[in-house]
Amino acid sequence: MSPLGRASIMCGIVGYIGKNNNPQLGLSALRRLEYRGYDSAGIAVFNPEKQEILCLKAKGKIDELEKKFSEARFSGSPFILHTRWATHGEPSEANAHPHCDCQKNIYLVHNGIIENYKELKEALITEGHKFASETDTEVLAHLIEKYSNPGQPLEDAVRHALKEVKGAYALAIISRNDPQKIVAAKLGSPLILGINQDEFLVASDPAAIVSHTRQVITLDDNEIAVLSPDNFFILKEKPIEKIEWEVEDAQKQGFSHFMLKEIFEEPEAIKKSIVGRMILEQGLAKLGGLEQVSEQLKKIEKVVIVACGTASYAGKVGEYMFEEYAKISTKLEIGSEFRYKNAILDDKTAVLAVSQSGETADTLEAIKEAKRKGCLCLGLVNTVGSSITRETDAGVYCRIGPEIAVASSKAFVSQLCILALITVFLGRQREMSLVTGKRILEELEKLPNLAKKILAQSDYIKDLAKKYSEYRNFYFLGRKYNFPIALEGALKLKEIAWKIHAEATPAGEMKHGQIALIDENFPVVCICPYDSIYDKMKNAMEEVKARKGKILAITTEGNEEIKSLADDVIYIPKTLEMLTPILSVLPLHLFAAYLGLELGLDIDKPRNLAKSVTVE
Ligand code: F6R
Repeated sequence: MSPLGRASIMCGIVGYIGKNNNPQLGLSALRRLEYRGYDSAGIAVFNPEKQEILCLKAKGKIDELEKKFSEARFSGSPFILHTRWATHGEPSEANAHPHCDCQKNIYLVHNGIIENYKELKEALITEGHKFASETDTEVLAHLIEKYSNPGQPLEDAVRHALKEVKGAYALAIISRNDPQKIVAAKLGSPLILGINQDEFLVASDPAAIVSHTRQVITLDDNEIAVLSPDNFFILKEKPIEKIEWEVEDAQKQGFSHFMLKEIFEEPEAIKKSIVGRMILEQGLAKLGGLEQVSEQLKKIEKVVIVACGTASYAGKVGEYMFEEYAKISTKLEIGSEFRYKNAILDDKTAVLAVSQSGETADTLEAIKEAKRKGCLCLGLVNTVGSSITRETDAGVYCRIGPEIAVASSKAFVSQLCILALITVFLGRQREMSLVTGKRILEELEKLPNLAKKILAQSDYIKDLAKKYSEYRNFYFLGRKYNFPIALEGALKLKEIAWKIHAEATPAGEMKHGQIALIDENFPVVCICPYDSIYDKMKNAMEEVKARKGKILAITTEGNEEIKSLADDVIYIPKTLEMLTPILSVLPLHLFAAYLGLELGLDIDKPRNLAKSVTVE
């Protein structure tokens, strides 16, 4: 089994070496990784005057560390930083990184998990090492100490130490005895190097360093890099890649929260996902990433979509699209379940991983399992160069820039658009007519403007969120293409407005159980655009109404009759039935965000969550 499969801590790490002696730079970079975890943070800096490493740690978000840092104000280079999402040991100052050896010579930050830390720790204690935390990470500092010899380079001790380690790691290490370098090492957890004139960085993801440099190298598993002020060295030659998105994409740009900014970017995300990918007159989807496996795709008899959370709801919509329009048997599988259920797969099956981060351990492992079983493995991913993109045979990028808020929003609509394009791609290889292909693409092209019309109602949706903020339970209903949107509406609400509980089922399922919940205190959000199952949705609403349930309906412009059933209505523009989720989800994202704000919550960083879930 691969290291990522076993489990790894999320967390974010940053390291810097070069001409800039102000570690504030590192704190700004670390803030961009706060989505990876935010229960404690820390920094270690080599101070050349004192010839020692100064370390600060704080429980809580990076703000707490920043407060301490602004009092201490020490300077120097290199420096390493960490933001933590606890697994081994509670969130506390002692368990926060950086961790050090007994002599306080070696400091390191770690993202991952050391699986054999108990055995290593016991042995090190027997040898006389003193531990200061409950973490698995600290064993690494003591192991490196054990293998350090005077006059020997730090990387030699690191290399020796890592031979004994089982698990996953992305590491940045500094040492007082070899101070002009950072040693970085990777196995399982992501790690990139940033290359600039007279300065080098190391980070968990490009968002942390893009304001400094766009030249990056993605480290591969088992590689060790040595960064010095004027040079860097890796065990093997690697190409330098270029980050394509702009610094502003990772900033709030006038919005109070990334979550709001990213919801308001949904029309743009739709546009970026489809532009240049349609040949309208021929009714064809032009997906360069799939062209190379086009012949294999023609022979595919079954598609399995693997994903987790919000991405799995996009996948569920994809399942409906592929079956209805591409006429391919398709099944959405939750990543964490797929690996253990012994799915029947063969070389006539394509497995498509849908993932914003491209790092979700459950989805990644599902792809590895599919690979073992001989399937064609595809990715629908936003983050360029991420683990899933490297494990798959081919795929399509979202191209929407970084998504920073922990809860996914713009990536979701992008995934839906690309699934629609893949539907046309696969469909036109099969029975889909030119007319149908053209129709889908023409309707897709209209979506950015239609989505903007929904955003124009944001004040109204904000008022609705305020009105409904007194309720603590919500039930979301949808059918067919909008059943997954009911799931997404409920997840988003309970995630970012977490004082509220919400659940969702297909509308037809309500009468089999959940109807027992309904009364005047249990609002029901009904997603009921004017489509092939509208009348069935109306029946469900009648059933809710008969039990005095409050109804907030999302329906198509011009539907006046709904007002006799619903207490409140949000209208969305008309589009093709299979594309309605791309519009109906937008008011639900806004509703959840405004409700979270109404309840005084941090909608960018909901409690207990982290963005890249690299834990199995
Ligand atoms: C919910 C949310 C999560 C992610 C899930 C998968 O708002 O963001 O449910 O969708 O953790 O993440 P990715 O898409 O990175 O694989």
